[in-house]
This record gives sequence, structure tokens and C-alpha cells, in this order.
Amino acid sequence: MRSHYCGDVNRSHVGEEVTLVGWVNRSRDLGGVVFLDLRDREGVIQVVYDPDLPEVFDVASTLRSEFCVQVKGLVRARPDSQINDQMRTGEIEVLGKALTILNSAPALPINMDKNQHNTEEQRLKYRYLDLRRPEMAERIIFRSKVTSAVRRFLDSNGFLDIETPILTKATPEGARDYLVPSRTYKGQFFALPQSPQLFKQLLMMSGFDRYYQIVKCFRDEDLRADRQPEFTQIDIETSFMTSAEVMDKTEEMVRSLFKELLDVDLGEFPKMSFAEAMRRYGSDKPDLRNPLELVDVADLVKDVDFKVFQEPANDSEGRVAVLCVPGGASLSRKQLDEYGKYVNIYGAKGLAWMKVNELEKGLEGIQSPVLKFLSEEVVKGILDRTAATNGDLILFGADKANIVAEAMGALRLKVGEDFELLEGDWKPLWVVDFPMFERTSDGGLHAMHHPFTAPSGITPAELEANPTAAISDAYDMVLNGCELGGGSVRIHDGEMQSAVFRILGIEDEEAQEKFGFLLEALKYGTPPHAGLAFGLDRMVMLMTGASSIRDVMAFPKTTTAACPLTNAPGLANPVQLEELGVSVVEAKKEQE
Ligand code: AMO
Ligand code: AMP
Repeated sequence: MRSHYCGDVNRSHVGEEVTLVGWVNRSRDLGGVVFLDLRDREGVIQVVYDPDLPEVFDVASTLRSEFCVQVKGLVRARPDSQINDQMRTGEIEVLGKALTILNSAPALPINMDKNQHNTEEQRLKYRYLDLRRPEMAERIIFRSKVTSAVRRFLDSNGFLDIETPILTKATPEGARDYLVPSRTYKGQFFALPQSPQLFKQLLMMSGFDRYYQIVKCFRDEDLRADRQPEFTQIDIETSFMTSAEVMDKTEEMVRSLFKELLDVDLGEFPKMSFAEAMRRYGSDKPDLRNPLELVDVADLVKDVDFKVFQEPANDSEGRVAVLCVPGGASLSRKQLDEYGKYVNIYGAKGLAWMKVNELEKGLEGIQSPVLKFLSEEVVKGILDRTAATNGDLILFGADKANIVAEAMGALRLKVGEDFELLEGDWKPLWVVDFPMFERTSDGGLHAMHHPFTAPSGITPAELEANPTAAISDAYDMVLNGCELGGGSVRIHDGEMQSAVFRILGIEDEEAQEKFGFLLEALKYGTPPHAGLAFGLDRMVMLMTGASSIRDVMAFPKTTTAACPLTNAPGLANPVQLEELGVSVVEAKKEQE
């Protein structure tokens, strides 16, 4: 039905007859000549119908947006005055000789223009139309190029593509599970995998040694711009490779993707410890395009007569840190209050500030609501350490260290955006040396990566003696403030695995019930193994400049984890529920 894609026709085709198929992007009747912009997945081309062929012209006059049509015509160069360098096909046009309407379309439920103002709900309800928009089509096509390049890289490096089950047991990655009731075992449930973590480890035990899978993962968690309930990982596992080797190989993969698809050279990725990232940026996924850094000043304020600073400065779990904003002294009181409200979201109780108006005037040249509590020496110490100059603004965070990191880390990003401070396009790094465990709000311990991650260089007994001091052999790849992927060396020894379960409060009986198969498998000559998983959606989001992973997924869900197109999730019919042995509490209530 077609000789060329619309977007592929160019100057070299001038003088040729072409047959094109696609959708009417726009059609204008300009007093006796119909200009048709015809669109397919590769682009848009201009077709001109003049009245020389009256029958064809009459059909052309009836075209409406999004009719599906076939066009036959002659490619000709546009006159110089009509060349459109915004369009890939802008040097040529097609003089229409025939036109077949393959299908018509009524008035559209969404606006197809580039600057469309459709709600997210409308876009998802009519996703098939939304995906016709070139901006969306380009991203979906780009995504396919990414997965193809990933496969080529991994295939040529000896990785085997092996599928793992979707109906399985829970894999703990920190989210809630999606459960699927079993008909054959009434009252029992499969869980959809939060990741293929345990199966890829079992594949290492089987000797496959280099595995990958581009695979759907399912997590029932609070959604954000970079989180979906169903998303795709580029999942990788290796045997007999150290963490350094896994990082080198996967870094090489990401570098080659950027070179091949964007012609961007990412260079070598720096490595930074978790502790340094938290200290300097208040985040374990720092955006290194932002030049601002947190500066610790607890030692300078530990004797001041201001409880807000003095208490955390003398608390081993407290922290006092400042952010020096170049040119920030021009902010109004209202703008400062806005920043104060912003840090409140992250648990900060306030945001003390100091404007550096005229350094040479000493305390006189400084303006701050907390100046009365600070001696000249303390102020000078803070100014020296931040290297503040006239016109700068210093913002204070004083609280428990985790609150300061979170609030000041978030503020750093906001200020960086507001003051347009970002430098450079791409700033990748590895974050390494994570703690094995973090404290949960109820005082228990939680595995920072997942419970199968190995600690660095200690025995099970040493780990159990002091779990919170242990550092794991885990690594995250971070790009422009986004966690692209994460992985670790795995525990390949049953005794260590049992120790970690105990530390996490999973008693032996529960461990047997949940992970008995893993503990059993670990006995039979398990090789040392390590791996990592990338979030494919996040990677494509960054590479295409999209602002949400929804914009790089063909059929994503809303932020409340629903699909407006199919109306999923939906009610199950009573017969199905009966077969499954499931009764629905909420629905029952409504019936009563
Ligand atoms: P982790 O949980 O860090 O590790 O996930 C790996 C990567 O997957 C992406 N990701 C998500 N993307 C979109 N929506 C989500 N809800 C979502 N959750 C995670 C992120 C993240 O870096 N089994 C381990 C990996 C391993 O140790 O090999 C795991 O799943 O980009
Ligand atoms: P207050 O004594 O509570 O009125 O606070 C005096 C100043 O300190 C105000 O500018 C507050 O915003 C600020 N402030 C209060 N608590 C904190 C905190 N935990 N960290 C930083 N600044 C704070």
C-alpha cells in the first residue's frame, strides 16, 4: 500500500511517483488549492491538490483531521520561498494525483496540536490518539531503539536472555505486592514480581553466569513522575564478577547507548560514597549539574545562645548545615517565607537565613533574623567557610541529620532550578558504600538495598554484632539526580543470608517459609555473583528529555494506578470470585 514513509521523502526523490499512507494532520483549502499535511509515524509531508484533476480535488476538499488516507503523487521541490526548515520534509512537497479515503474520523475527543492542553486523564483515555502526536511517537520509537541497542550490547558481551516467572512468590524490594488469587489452590495467592531478583540469583546457581532480561516489574507503591506500578527493568546478573567489574561493564553499556543514540560522550563516571553524597548534597542521588553544596557548621554554632542551632550541633544524631545561594540576598521576605514552607514539607521546622549585603561592614553589613544570637566570630566563621560574597544568601538547616539532609537536599534542587544554576547537560556518577541497613520509624532495621545484598568484608558474626555499622557492596548509577539503576554483590553463603534475615527480624521459621528455596539452593556450590537493574523507563525519560516516565510508556497508568482507557482495575464477576474462593469486603458493604 505504500512506497515510502511520509517522513522519509526528501530532495533525492524529486521527480519520483510515491504512494503514501497516513493520517490527515491538517488540511487547508486555500481558494482552489488544498494543502494536506499527511502524517505517519516517521513524520509529516505536504501534499498539494489543485483543480487540474477535479475528481481527486473534490475528494481532497472533504478531508478532515485524522482521516486515514492513501495518497499517490509526484515529488517536487518547493520554490525557495516556501522551503520550511522546521520540517524534515520541508524542501519538497507532493503534487497529489490520487487520493483514497481509507477511513474517516468524527470530531476528535482530544486536541492533537503540539501545544495541546489535554488533561492527563484525557490523554490516557484516548492514548491511541495521543500516541499519534509526533512528540509521543518519537519517544516510543526512541524507546525501541534503546532496547534494541541494549540487547545488541548485552548479546555481544555474552549475556543470555532468560525469562523468569510473572506468577511467583513475593520478592521483597520494599513495595507492596500485587497479588493474584489461585483457582487451583483456593485461598492462596501468587505475587507478581517486584523484580526477578531471586530467579536471577537461582540462574547463577544453575551456571548461566551472565543473564539479562528486559522485564516488567510490579510494585504497589505511591506513584510519582518517575514511578509506575508496572515498569520495565533492564535486569542483569553475573557470576564471578566483582562489584568493580559489574560497574565497569554496565557503565560501558550506558556510555555506548548515549554515544550511539544521542552522540553524547558521558566520559568516565566518578564514584562517590553514600556518606559523602549525603554530606555534600543531602541526597543519595545527587544532581551534579547543580553546583551548590551543603556546608556543615555544627562545630561553629555549638556554643551559641540559640537552641535551634545549639541543640542539634551538640547531638550526635543532629546536624547544622547551610546552603550559600549566590545572588540570593535580593530575595524578598515573601520569597524567603516560600522557601521556609518548602522545607516544612520535608520535616524542617524553620529556615533561618542570613543576607550578605556588605561584607566589609562586618555585622552591620549582614541582615538576619537570628543575627542577635550569633557573635561576630561565629558569623565570620560561617562566611569564611561558605566563601560567601556580597549579594549572597545563606540558608540554615538545623535538626536531626536525616531531616537536614532531606530538607536541605530538596531545597538545594529547588534553588538550583529557581536561580537557573544547572551546569552541563549530563552528569553521571556511581554512589557506593551504602550502609547495609537503615532504621525504620518503629526502631527496626530495613535492608537499604535488598536482603540479598552482601556486606563488604565482614563475617556473619561481625555483622550481627554491629549491623548498623556495616557497609554493603552495593552501587547505584545516578544521572542528573535520577537513580537510573542499582545493584549489589549478593550473599552466596547460607550462614550470612540467615544472619541478615535475623537482623531484619525474620525469624528462622519465617525465613524457611518465605525463602527456604533460596537457603536450600545456597548449599549447592553457589558461585559468587553480583548484578544490577536499570529502570528502562527512567533511562528513556532522561534520554528524550521527557518530564515523566508516563510520557515514554505506551500505556501507563494514572497517578492513582488506574487505566482510564480500559477502566482497569474493574470488578470481577461473582462466578469468577466463587471459583477463586475470594469474597470482596468493600463490594459486599455496598450491596447491603
Ligand atoms: P531497585 O529496586 O533499585 O533494584 O530497582 C532498579 C531500578 O528500577 C527502577 N525502578 C522503577 N522505575 C519505575 N517505576 C518504579 N516503581 C520503579 N522502581 C524501581 C529504578 C531503579 O534504580 N533487584 C534489584 C536490582 C539488583 O539488585 O540487581 C532492584 O530491583 O531506576
Ligand atoms: P524561632 O526562634 O523559632 O522564631 O526561629 C528563628 C528563626 O530560625 C526563624 O527564621 C526560623 O525560620 C528559623 N528556624 C527555626 N527552626 C529552624 C530549624 N530547625 N532549622 C533552621 N532554621 C530554623
